[in-house]
Amino acid sequence: MKTIIEPFRIKTVEPLRLTTISERRDQLRRAGYNLFRVPARHVLIDLLTDSGTGAMSSEQWAGVMRGDESYAGADSYYRFLRTVRSVTGFDHVLPTHQGRASERILVETLIGSPPAGCGKVIPGNAHFDTTRANIEHAGAEAIDLLTEDGRTAVSAAPFKGNLDTKRLRALLERRPGDVPAVMLTVTCNTNGGQPVAFRNVQRVRAICDEFGVPLILDAARFAENAWFIKTREPGQAARSVREIARSVFELADGATISAKKDGLVNIGGVLLLRDEEMFQRASDLLILTEGFVTYGGLAGRDLEAMAIGIDEALDEDYLRYRVRSIEYLGQKLAEAGVRIVQPPGGHAIYIDAAAFCPHIPAAEFPGQALACALYEHAGIRACEIGSVMLGEHAVLELVRLAIPRRTYTQSHIDYVIEAVLEVKHRAEELVGFRLAESSGSLRHFTARFEPVSRERTATA
Ligand code: F0G
Repeated sequence: MKTIIEPFRIKTVEPLRLTTISERRDQLRRAGYNLFRVPARHVLIDLLTDSGTGAMSSEQWAGVMRGDESYAGADSYYRFLRTVRSVTGFDHVLPTHQGRASERILVETLIGSPPAGCGKVIPGNAHFDTTRANIEHAGAEAIDLLTEDGRTAVSAAPFKGNLDTKRLRALLERRPGDVPAVMLTVTCNTNGGQPVAFRNVQRVRAICDEFGVPLILDAARFAENAWFIKTREPGQAARSVREIARSVFELADGATISAKKDGLVNIGGVLLLRDEEMFQRASDLLILTEGFVTYGGLAGRDLEAMAIGIDEALDEDYLRYRVRSIEYLGQKLAEAGVRIVQPPGGHAIYIDAAAFCPHIPAAEFPGQALACALYEHAGIRACEIGSVMLGEHAVLELVRLAIPRRTYTQSHIDYVIEAVLEVKHRAEELVGFRLAESSGSLRHFTARFEPVSRERTATA
């Protein structure tokens, strides 16, 4: 059979609430045209993020009931530990409440408390916004070293998440002693959920060895990355996704994981470390702000669900469906002339908003304009990943349609396709925005915007 079906059936349903255009216009005004500020009950299809928004399996819900809530040494912790050790090969495992808690502890473990990072630099393929913010908060610099392919929307290269090893070597030669770690984000969220090749991880590892620098993975989407390695990288097809994922982890000295993605849970994170001394420092920091080392700020039931989720994410039937359903969305949009980041990534489709509304300059946030238009037109909530989120680090003006795991059906996706195409039909009517209120390095969560008048956009 050619049709790839959802490899599950539905046991519990959650009603969606339909709203009218005028209600949505009103919500947009109240929210300062920032979709993070719109209450979820006014959203029909929520593609803001794939993080913590997926559906848990019946096994996971059963695990929730089994969760052991002992403060220290709960059964659920040991189950979590066994699973993470077997999937990653790391001995030193800490649970955290989510990815950014792992990042904060990792950064402090690597370079000390802020502003100890002064003069330090952590290169990566492309850091996610919270990772960058944590590095900068410690006083260090976060540098993105994607390859040329990875920095364009149109190139359909298979591994656009790869780190440019020539530029990495040049940086390490220029600033020996200033680099406390190299980070690889798999898959690379910032440029389209693009995978990193196994070969690239090996090459980066070899350079790190040469210069004596640890290699850290941001492995939020480790299973989707392993699927792409299996299906796209020459010589990898015969290995199981589980084997591939483990061999990627084995090349690293540490990893941060937001389990809200491929951990298939609504909350949870992991910090993995190879070095005993670093692990001790990280454990102390964990106890200081998150919780004891056997729960890390989570309930026992969360640890249980996370252990089961990390295993389920490596199921190849699930991954085949997951990646295919996103590719389907991408293909339909591209066939209708919508420019997207090619090839479709592992967790989302990224629309090139600069190409969608060429009359809106980057300074007036074309991504914000498109995201607001999709919400107003069809109640779909997407996420700007461009000049609003990344400021001067933005390479592309993108709007991300992130697909929660195991949550929406194909007819929901068909509705999204129809909505994007209807908005495209009248794209020239979209207006840009100016920032009315903003603060901090993660301003996209809280900023308020004002639409610029149509005349100004036209003459800009
Ligand atoms: N790393 C990557 C690659 C991420 O995509 C995220 C979160 C994090 C780290 C931080 O993890 O949210 O658990 O603290 N990404 C979400 C997103 C928020 O919408 O892409 P967290």
